[in-house]
Amino acid sequence: MNMKYDFDQIIPRHHTNSLKYDFAKERGKPDGLLPMWVADMDIQAPPAVREALAEKAAHGIFGYSEPDKNYYEALETWFGTRHKWMVDPYTAVLAPGVVYAICTLIRCLTQCGDSVLIQEPVYYCFRESIRDNGRKVVVNELRFDGRQYHIDFEDFERKIIENKVRLFILCSPHNPVGRVWKREELERLAEICLRHGVFVVADEIHEDFVYHGNTHLVFATLSQEVANNCAVCTSTSKSFNLAALQNANIFIANQQARRAFKQELESEGVSQANIMGLVACQAAYQYGAEWLDQLIDYLSGNIELMRETFCTRLPELQLVEPEGTYLPWVNFSKLGLSVSELDSRIVERAKLWLDSGVIFGAGGAGFQRFNIAVPRETLRQALKQLENIR
Ligand SMILES: Cc1ncc(COP(=O)(O)O)c(C=O)c1O
Repeated sequence: MNMKYDFDQIIPRHHTNSLKYDFAKERGKPDGLLPMWVADMDIQAPPAVREALAEKAAHGIFGYSEPDKNYYEALETWFGTRHKWMVDPYTAVLAPGVVYAICTLIRCLTQCGDSVLIQEPVYYCFRESIRDNGRKVVVNELRFDGRQYHIDFEDFERKIIENKVRLFILCSPHNPVGRVWKREELERLAEICLRHGVFVVADEIHEDFVYHGNTHLVFATLSQEVANNCAVCTSTSKSFNLAALQNANIFIANQQARRAFKQELESEGVSQANIMGLVACQAAYQYGAEWLDQLIDYLSGNIELMRETFCTRLPELQLVEPEGTYLPWVNFSKLGLSVSELDSRIVERAKLWLDSGVIFGAGGAGFQRFNIAVPRETLRQALKQLENIR
């Protein structure tokens, strides 16, 4: 592919209020680590997005705003062409982030003390959102066969029955194990949830990062019945590196659930949207497709570099082959270290800041999550430092 965009460019992020770079001390880390943790990219957003934001900034008036027809058309076209999802864009409700929306959905669709199911190891905010809203966390642990992760469907159903689960939070594609769920897997989950009256919150924030001929399937496309039993959480924040603009589109076909979600948002005082978030989202969906295609190609190259380096220089480490996401999951267990010894070697010897596997819950010990959405040279440097782990 002829690269039009320069993803190799290293943009300094120190002293830019970057959570990833500038707050080590506040998070109990020493200075001087190379950060490969939190899920944003060291890569600039697409030029069209930056231009649209600059234009809005130059206008200089940041009064209350709402999404208009053009915004909804951008959503409709993006999901229709990119994900073959012919969705009514007006079923999307805006929220100030996917995690915010998940917390709100938990509150409006379940009662205090109800059980909510997740599949650990999984994005740690799921557990926190359930716990912080006074609901009970129930875990259907993913099974690692030494190479890849699978769903234990018997356990999934048993946990639903035993705990009278009301809500299931699906991570699709899955962070951190990198699975892009196949149609059969999603259908089986959907069927069990329908049979037991479990509503599904499908967090599809990583939907645009899919590798090696895998295809992301929007949960709501499985059938009309499934569409009516789920909320699909989407955002441009991962795909186009816009996390701090706090804009997410939550698609809820089910009228009753959508009304409940809107009411809960209102009761939290959420009304108008962030104008910069709206502008960026619309520009990304209208003009960002080519940039994203090239970025995915570039990130595949980064994964290839990681794979090669592990084979040739770090054979003790195992890359769990990512089908999607830019957050590869790496198995360090052959080193035979305790969690605390592994974590401290990553910091003290490799001088890296990674996400320790244990924060993702059950099954995370012995693993670390890398963020490879960085210029190739940055990744090369990180992998070089990683050799000091032994
Ligand atoms: C699965 C998943 N959901 C949600 C988020 C965060 O979304 P937001 O910043 O919109 O709350 C992340 C960020 O890494 C994520 O991996």
